[in-house]
Amino acid sequence: MDQLAIIIRRATERDQQAIRALVHSERLNPNGLHWQNFLVAVTGGSIIGAVQMRKHTDGSRELGSLVVTREARGHGIASRLIDALFAEERQPVWMITAEANAGTYARWGFRQIEARAAPVKVRRNHLMGSLVCILSFFMRRPVRRLVILERRPAGKTSRTSASDQPLPLAVSGLQSARS
Ligand SMILES: CC(C)(COP(=O)(O)OP(=O)(O)OC[C@H]1O[C@@H](n2cnc3c(N)ncnc32)[C@H](O)[C@@H]1OP(=O)(O)O)[C@@H](O)C(=O)NCCC(=O)NCCS
Repeated sequence: MDQLAIIIRRATERDQQAIRALVHSERLNPNGLHWQNFLVAVTGGSIIGAVQMRKHTDGSRELGSLVVTREARGHGIASRLIDALFAEERQPVWMITAEANAGTYARWGFRQIEARAAPVKVRRNHLMGSLVCILSFFMRRPVRRLVILERRPAGKTSRTSASDQPLPLAVSGLQSARS
């Protein structure tokens, strides 16, 4: 995969269908896929990756819909998408991910929290995702326990954990580690 040919940019209305197809292909949360919230990774005119910052009505923000096409994985594209998403982000952000992958996101300052400490809209998505995981069990698909991660910009402490250390803002991800 030629890294130089991959561009990370804001999505446009014309990307809506490709974003939806990409997110659906990995059975990620199918709700709230508004192109306005997305960044996409593009090569040769095709979208090969996407991520969004969900803006919930309770004011919370959730990194979601992180996906890279199978052929393009392992080249730092997801890391570049997250780096770009956080380049100008100064608000607390939450995300929901499989417990087994939670440690990956520490490099962006995320840490695991109790579900009850998360904003209500994030908790709702976590609950819905967990229900889908239970259904997976009955459909004999791999079951992944989902956890909630929180990222607080430096100086902003969580309501529930006053001992939080200031967290780094966007740090370079795999892209720079592999270059
Ligand atoms: C997760 C995903 C986006 C990673 O894309 P990518 O471009 O290959 O990621 P990168 O090359 O930037 O690698 C970033 C790191 O994320 C890890 N990772 C995080 N979540 C992962 C997941 N769900 N599956 C596999 N690897 C994952 C990678 O192993 C890698 O770790 P490393 O630095 O220790 O090697 C891609 O595997 C994917 O689309 N998976 C299906 C959808 C999904 O699970 N999305 C995550 C929802 S939270």
